[in-house]
Amino acid sequence: MQELGDVLKTLMPELTSASEIGRHICEGCGNEVITVEVPIIGGPNKGQIIRQKRGCVCWENEQAREAKQQQQRAKVNYMVERYSTVNPDLEEATFESYQANNETLRQALELSKEYAETFELDKPRNLLFAGLYGLGKSHLSYAICKRLKERGFIAVFISVPKLLTIIKSTYQRNSEFSEAELLDVLSKVDFLALDDIGAEKVRKEEEGDSWATEKLFEIIDGRSGRHTLYTTNLSSEDLGRKVGPRNFSRMMMNTKSFKFEGNDYRINNMRF
Ligand SMILES: Nc1ncnc2c1ncn2[C@@H]1O[C@H](COP(=O)(O)OP(=O)(O)OP(=O)(O)O)[C@@H](O)[C@H]1O
Ligand SMILES: [Mg+2]
Ligand SMILES: [Zn+2]
Repeated sequence: MQELGDVLKTLMPELTSASEIGRHICEGCGNEVITVEVPIIGGPNKGQIIRQKRGCVCWENEQAREAKQQQQRAKVNYMVERYSTVNPDLEEATFESYQANNETLRQALELSKEYAETFELDKPRNLLFAGLYGLGKSHLSYAICKRLKERGFIAVFISVPKLLTIIKSTYQRNSEFSEAELLDVLSKVDFLALDDIGAEKVRKEEEGDSWATEKLFEIIDGRSGRHTLYTTNLSSEDLGRKVGPRNFSRMMMNTKSFKFEGNDYRINNMRF
């Protein structure tokens, strides 16, 4: 009976003459790598000596890492598409469809366009749109979001009350995503419009110190150094009270606030 070594040598003749010339631990994969010199056994370069490294699995690791990253990216894209939703009345909102009926609204439109056109990842700027109902705060925020997507950025528009409901839904056992995954995605998108912040329902005695406050903190704090836009109906005092001082202080970092003034577009457009 033949020894296994002899069988292998017959099947892989280069084993016969492979000579080890060194061993080292690969910095990439941590394996012991053996460097050998072997003669080429056939073809035009037959007999030529080449060096081979055996035992390194860096390449395989790299393939696995890339596959995992690709999976992660697909999941993020899916979540972004799924959760970046608006009410039908905003779907068509663009800069072009915005009618600036007074000087303040003209400035709001100009500011929004300028923000979207000059947006750069490494120059984080935040916006806060305040003011009463139906003045186009959400309209312009969504238009910014669309323009940024056209420019290739990852941009998400979401109403805060809806977002909190979505976070709660991740606590259900059959949820597709964990809360941590969702918060992680929202913390990392290039642009996040948090629409109607302060409109979340919180018991009066819990204002500034509620479950919602804590969730907002995780998102807002996680987004430091990234671009965020807030819209609200509240005054700065009421907003500060509602979201709590820690959130409010972070919301105001690098933030230009703009107060919308004018007539409620929803009511103006009604004829009866
Ligand atoms: N100046 C405008 N030109 C065109 N459409 C507008 C204008 N202002 C508001 N709209 C439209 O009116 C509706 C209400 O506007 P939007 O939701 O932006 O108001 P808002 O300021 O966010 O109000 P709220 O504080 O109630 O959320 C939307 O369908 C929006 O597209
Ligand atoms: Mg709105
Ligand atoms: Zn290696």
